[in-house]
Amino acid sequence: CGIVGYVGPAAASSRPLDVVMEGLGRLEYRGYDSAGIAIATPDGLVSAKKAGKLTNLTRELDERPLAEGTAAIGHTRWATHGAPTDVNAHPHLSGDGRLAVIHNGIIENFHALKSALVADGTQFHSETDTEVVAHLLAGAYDETGDLTEAMRQVVRRLEGAFTLLAVHADQPDTVVGARRNSPLVIGLGEGENFLGSDVSAFIAFTREAMEMGQDQVVTITGADVVVTDAAGTVVQPRRFTVDWSADAAVKGGFETFMNKEIHDQPQAVADTLLGRVGEKGELILDEMRISETVMRSVDKIVVIACGTAAYAGHVAKYAIEHWCRIPVEVELAHEFRYRDPVVSEKTLVVAISQSGETMDTIMAVRHAREQGAKVLAIVNTHGSTIARESDAVLYTHAGPEVAVASTKAFLAQITACYLLGLYLAQLRGNKFPDEIAEDLEELRLMPERIQQVVDTEGHVQAVARELAEERTVLFLGRHVGFPVALEGALKLKELAYIHAEGFAAGELKHGPIALVEPGQPVFVIAPSPRGRDALHAKVISNIQEIRARGARTLVIAEEGDDAVEPFADVVFRVPQTPTLLAPLVTVVPLQIFAAALATAKGLDVDQPRNLAKSVTVE
Ligand code: G6P
Repeated sequence: CGIVGYVGPAAASSRPLDVVMEGLGRLEYRGYDSAGIAIATPDGLVSAKKAGKLTNLTRELDERPLAEGTAAIGHTRWATHGAPTDVNAHPHLSGDGRLAVIHNGIIENFHALKSALVADGTQFHSETDTEVVAHLLAGAYDETGDLTEAMRQVVRRLEGAFTLLAVHADQPDTVVGARRNSPLVIGLGEGENFLGSDVSAFIAFTREAMEMGQDQVVTITGADVVVTDAAGTVVQPRRFTVDWSADAAVKGGFETFMNKEIHDQPQAVADTLLGRVGEKGELILDEMRISETVMRSVDKIVVIACGTAAYAGHVAKYAIEHWCRIPVEVELAHEFRYRDPVVSEKTLVVAISQSGETMDTIMAVRHAREQGAKVLAIVNTHGSTIARESDAVLYTHAGPEVAVASTKAFLAQITACYLLGLYLAQLRGNKFPDEIAEDLEELRLMPERIQQVVDTEGHVQAVARELAEERTVLFLGRHVGFPVALEGALKLKELAYIHAEGFAAGELKHGPIALVEPGQPVFVIAPSPRGRDALHAKVISNIQEIRARGARTLVIAEEGDDAVEPFADVVFRVPQTPTLLAPLVTVVPLQIFAAALATAKGLDVDQPRNLAKSVTVE
C-alpha cells in the first residue's frame, strides 16, 4: 500500500487535497486496488474512498467535492484483509466519525483485538484489520485527549507490520504516524510538512526528508515535526536530501513507464558503475560494516531475493563462482526463511531487492542475521528497510522504477552483482589487478551495448504483434542464458498473461520437448560463439532439436553469429559481449517483446492485474 500525510497553514484551503492526490498518483505503483482520503476541516473530518484505481476516487471527488481543510491523509491499497471494495478501502473511521486512520501492512493479532472490541459493543463496518486500529485509537484518544500519546498506547498493543497515519477532528492541524516493519518517511516543507511511504509521495513539493526508525511515532503540524520512540522520548531522525527530481518519476514522453524504464537502462547501468573505483584502483561499496578480514574468510554466499531480483541472483552465481571460487547458492527469500538453512558466521548472505521493502526478503534477512551470517544488501531505494537492516549496502542507481514489472532495476542489480564479484575477487586475490581493470573496462562498455539493443526495438515489437494471439511461449537458455530465459518467461506472464516457461536448454530433452508442437514459439538465448566450453555448439543442437519438431524459433544471438541463421525463424541481434556479461544485453529484447505483446493485447503494461510493485506482506 501507499500512504501520504500532509499538514499545511492554519487557514483551510484546497492544498491538503491537492498534495495528497498528487502523492497518491506517484505511490500508485505500491498497490492500486482502491484509494481514499480524509481531510481535517474546521467543521470536522470529511472523507471519500473508492474501490479500483485512483481515477475512480478522482471521479468521485469531482462529482462530490470535499470541503477545504488544513490536514489530510490518503491511501492507495493492495488488499490483504478483506476484498478490494469501497467499504474495505482506507481511511477507516471511528464510530463517531471524528477520527480517521490509514494503514499499510498486516496487524497479526487483529482477531483477538476485534473480538474484545465486539464484546464491548463496538460496531464494525469493514472486514479489514485496520478498522480495529480506528476504534482502539478513538478509545485511547478519549482517555488521553492527545492523538500522539493515543498512537503510542495503541501501537504497543499491535503485533505485525504496519505504517499508520491518523487525523482527529479535535486536532485539525496535526497528523500522527507510526511505523513498525513497514516504511514511513518525513518530508520537510516551508510552513507545511509531509509523510509518505517513500519520498516520491512528496517529491513534487520538497526534497528535504527525514528517516523514521523502527517503532517510532511522528507528529507533524504545519510548523513542526516531532519524532518520539515508543516510550515517548524525543529522538532526532537522520535528515537527507533526495537526489532525484520529480521529473525522474514521470514518463518523459514515453507511452508507459515500462517503456521509459527500458530506455533508461543504459543510464541505470552507467550510474550503478559510477564512482566505484577508488584512487588505488580498489572497488568501493556504499556502506560497509563488515571488516575485510570477515569478507576474506567467507566460505559460502547465499543470494536471497524474490521475482526478477532472484534471477539477478542466478546470474551472480555464474559470475561470482567463476571469478572468486566461492560456492554460491541462490534461493527465493520465502523458501530460505522457512526451512532450516545452513548458514554460519562465514556465510555472506546477499539480499537483492529493488524496493528494499519486500516483506519476504526482509524476513529472510532477519533470519540470516539471527543465524550469525553477515548480510550485504543490493537495493535501489535509499534508506529502505533492507538497506537499514543489513551489514553492508551496495546501492543500485537505477532511479525510481514505477512500472510494476522490473526492467532497469534488474539490469542495475546484475551490474551490482558483477561489482560485488570483482570486489571479492580483488580482496581475496583471485584475480590480478589488471584482470579486474579489464573486466571493469568491459562493464563500462555495457551501457553503449545495451543502447544498441534498445535501438532495435522496432523489429522486436513487430514480431511481438505477430505473436499476440499465442497461448504458450517457451524460453531456452544455458549458463547465464538460463536465468535470462526464466526472466523472459516471467515478463511475458506478468505483462501479457500468457503461459510462458523458461528452461535450461540442456534439460529440454528430459521432458519439456514433449510440449513442442508445430508452430510453437520458442525463444532461444544463444551464447557467444567466442565463449568457452562448446556452449554455443550445444545450444545450436538444442535449436535443431526443437526446429525438427516444428517449433517456430526466435533466437537471440550475437552479431556475426552466422551459425544460428539456418535454424532460426527470427533472429534478434545483440552486440558481441563477454559470456558472463551477456545477460545485460540478451534480456533486453525479451523485455521489449513482453511489453509490446501486452500493448498489442490492449493490456495495462505498467500495472498488470493482481500484482504490486512492492509486496509488503509475506
Ligand atoms: C514484486 C514485483 C516484481 C519484483 C519482486 C521483488 O513481485 O512485482 O517485479 O521483482 O516483487 O521486488 P524487490 O523490490 O524486492 O526487488
